[in-house]
Amino acid sequence: MSKDFKRYLITSALPYANGPVHIGHLAGVYIPSDIYTRYLRLRGRDVISVCGSDEHGVPITIKAKKEGITPQQVVDRYHAIIKESFEKLGISFDIYSRTSSPVHAETASAFFRKLYDEGKFVEQTTEQFYDEEAKSFLADRYIVGTCPKCGAEGAYGDQCEVCGSTLSPDELVNPRSTLSGATPVKRETKHWYLPLDQYEQMLREWILEGHKEWKSNVYGQCKSWLDGGLMPRAVSRDLDWGIPVPVEGAEGKVLYVWFDAPIGYISATKELTPDWEKYWKSEDTKLVHFIGKDNIVFHCIVFPSMLKAHGEYILPENVPSNEFLNLEGNKISTSKNWAVWLHEYLVDFPGKEDVLRYALCATAPETKDNDFTWKDYQARNNNELVAVLGNFVNRALVLTKKYYDGEVPACGELTDYDRDTIAELSSIKASLESNIENYRFREALKDAMNFARIGNKYLADSEPWKLIKTDAERVKTILNIALQITANIAIAIEPFMPFSAAKILNMLACEKFGWEQLGAMNLLAAGHHIGEPSLLFEKIEDDVIQKQLDRLEEIAKQNKAAEVKAEPQKAECSFDDFQKMDIRVSTILEAEKLPKTKKLLKLTIDTGIDKRTIVSGIAEHFSPEELVGKQVLVLVNLAPRDFKGITSQGMILMAEDATGALRLLQPNEKTNAGAMVG
Ligand code: MF3
Ligand code: ZN
Repeated sequence: MSKDFKRYLITSALPYANGPVHIGHLAGVYIPSDIYTRYLRLRGRDVISVCGSDEHGVPITIKAKKEGITPQQVVDRYHAIIKESFEKLGISFDIYSRTSSPVHAETASAFFRKLYDEGKFVEQTTEQFYDEEAKSFLADRYIVGTCPKCGAEGAYGDQCEVCGSTLSPDELVNPRSTLSGATPVKRETKHWYLPLDQYEQMLREWILEGHKEWKSNVYGQCKSWLDGGLMPRAVSRDLDWGIPVPVEGAEGKVLYVWFDAPIGYISATKELTPDWEKYWKSEDTKLVHFIGKDNIVFHCIVFPSMLKAHGEYILPENVPSNEFLNLEGNKISTSKNWAVWLHEYLVDFPGKEDVLRYALCATAPETKDNDFTWKDYQARNNNELVAVLGNFVNRALVLTKKYYDGEVPACGELTDYDRDTIAELSSIKASLESNIENYRFREALKDAMNFARIGNKYLADSEPWKLIKTDAERVKTILNIALQITANIAIAIEPFMPFSAAKILNMLACEKFGWEQLGAMNLLAAGHHIGEPSLLFEKIEDDVIQKQLDRLEEIAKQNKAAEVKAEPQKAECSFDDFQKMDIRVSTILEAEKLPKTKKLLKLTIDTGIDKRTIVSGIAEHFSPEELVGKQVLVLVNLAPRDFKGITSQGMILMAEDATGALRLLQPNEKTNAGAMVG
């Protein structure tokens, strides 16, 4: 059932402006959507790609509160970072807007108002948690308390981050408002609900019957939502950050962020072109939403119901959604800083934008979760981009320079091998197109790289550098073909690696080609002068990769330390019990390793009372040299004990930290040995 569309409207999930963009976002959404969009543009299609920052919602207000700034300041900061880093990576949106724009407020309000006026909502009064001191209703995230499942403190009203349980605020033990610390009370509040149940039939027919071609992860999620039965969903919230509900008597209420954000696609299109309606309201438009898997229900169930309720808009033709990308084996997490941030990558790896685009497309989590590792990134750069693509292009250009002073030689009679090579190229073209059109970008990237692989093999097999001595005429044909393949590569890789494509064109001294020229062997006329060859990619050395790995290891360490819970308190002890312990400041005079043991050190210490020997199991943590001269606290009246024939008279006090490292306890200033602790 493939239909011919007159134009394309591509949307990419609006990133939340409460943090920068990381590789998970890129691999899941923005790189695929950019490949698709660039491909359609190259084909000369009428296509626009819209995106922008999602600037409402509770996480943004929480971030603002934490940092002591306003929500507007939060979104201003991240909007700027995100927008700039997308541009630098060559993500070629026609517009990157934001949901705090006036056009958006107007568009979203009018959308709500139309549904409201036409009676498409149901009004419902429910009880919600309210903070009487702060005089504010509380979103689930604003309520904290003790987790009923694992007992952790600081669990949120929607989730415990320690044990991962999904919670509701009612379940929290000892709930408190994060606004004032007050205990929340229940209070009645009125909200507007979109009765999704009324759209169930339409959605079933449209998706389950009409779009069996959708990716199985998307189709499967839709089916399970629909089979579970849909319920009305609130589209307003009691919050002071967002678009005010445009209805009388709705003071203090805003549109729910998932109501306004997808309308942001419409607002952005309006800002881009006065012709926006033809993209949104004509059945000739192919609307495609690129999203991550956590967005499926909103783009396949909720937003389409909103669009249907409104009545004037088309529905998406496809909603390609990816699984998640992990980083070095662990889930990417913004709050744990376990991510590779785009804006940081751009600083650490200037000029390597295409390498990231390539590595992320090659490991995109298209059908299952996938893992990004720095070693893999390095290998893809060195073994694929440098060794295959860069190497081929460089050989073709350098040999042309060398033999013909940069002039494209004429093509003579073709051999069977030449013809086979050319035929192979045109068969890849068909596969490349079908893969992109069916959202299989990893496979498509392999196809594009195959142009270079074939080129490499062609040169290796035909060995022009040897033939030049025996059959100079034949070499002209070989290099003509190699140069035509190079020009073809500039077309094939453009959607994936636009900077490198431009660089190749520049080296060939050519204008940009159209997609329909892909496969042609007459892209460069004989006699055309090419420009100066330079390296397309450079090898990435181990130390560069190690630096990134070290950074991640440091973060992992910090996270581990932050996670550790203190041991529960021991049973009560009386003051008399405590008084029995005689703890003294002591100085370590000598230290040596006990022969034939791994862990034991023999220490001579000055307790102020006497000089004595203590055997301590700390040899794996401290070297003898670093201990000598240190002041420590010693329990001096501990019953003596023998170790390997040596009597130990006391115990050095130490703390074991979350990473398992031992720390000596010392007086904060030099103190006389024998000073009592208590
Ligand atoms: N901000 C959301 C997220 O990052 C995506 C919003 S997509 C839109 O998960 F359609 F609502 F805009
Ligand atoms: Zn818990």
